[in-house]
Amino acid sequence: MQRMSRGQPDQHCAEPRGELAIRVMAMPADTNPMGHIFGGWIMSMMDAAGKMTAATCASCQVVTAAVSNISFLQPVNVGDTVCCYTDVVNVGNTSIALDVEVWVRRQGHGERLKVTEAQFTFVAVDEEGAPRPVAAAECRYN
Ligand SMILES: CC(C)(COP(=O)(O)OP(=O)(O)OC[C@H]1O[C@@H](n2cnc3c(N)ncnc32)[C@H](O)[C@@H]1OP(=O)(O)O)[C@@H](O)C(=O)NCCC(=O)NCCS
Repeated sequence: MQRMSRGQPDQHCAEPRGELAIRVMAMPADTNPMGHIFGGWIMSMMDAAGKMTAATCASCQVVTAAVSNISFLQPVNVGDTVCCYTDVVNVGNTSIALDVEVWVRRQGHGERLKVTEAQFTFVAVDEEGAPRPVAAAECRYN
C-alpha cells in the first residue's frame, strides 16, 4: 500500500482538501420534507465525484466498494452552490481510498462552508467486474 495523504483530516480546516470534482447548484427537486436538500442527493454527488477521480486515477472503470464516516455537518439549501472535493489518500493493489468533502457557498456567494464529509473506497475492475491492479505510480491525484 502506498500512503498518499496530503494532511490529516481536520474538521476545522477552513479550506477544502483535494481537487474540485463537481460544482452544481442545489435545486428544489432535491429537497426533503424539511425543505433542505436530501442527504441521499448529497451522497450521490459525493459518490459520483469520488468515482470520477478514482477512474481517472486507475485509468479504468471503478466500482464503489465502501463508504464510511459520513458526517452531515450543516444543511444544504436550495440555491446553494455545492462543490465536491476529492483527495486520494491511499492506493492499494486494486483499491483507491479517497476523502470526499462537500462545501457550499450560500446562494452562490460568500464564504465557503463545509457541509458533509466521508471516506470512500473504489475498486478498479475489468470488463467482467473482477478487481484488477492499479498502477499506483500512474495515479494522478493532484
Ligand atoms: C468491490 C468488489 C469488486 C470487490 O470484489 P472482491 O472479490 O470482494 O475483491 P477483493 O476481496 O479481492 O478486494 C479487492 C479490494 O477491495 C477492497 N475492499 C473490498 N471490500 C472492501 C470494503 N468493504 N471496504 C474497503 N475495502 C474493500 C480490498 O481491501 C481490496 O483492496 P486491495 O486490492 O487494494 O488490497 C465487489 O465486492 C463488488 O463488485 N461489489 C459491488 C460493487 C457495486 O455494485 N458498487 C455500487 C455501484 S458502483
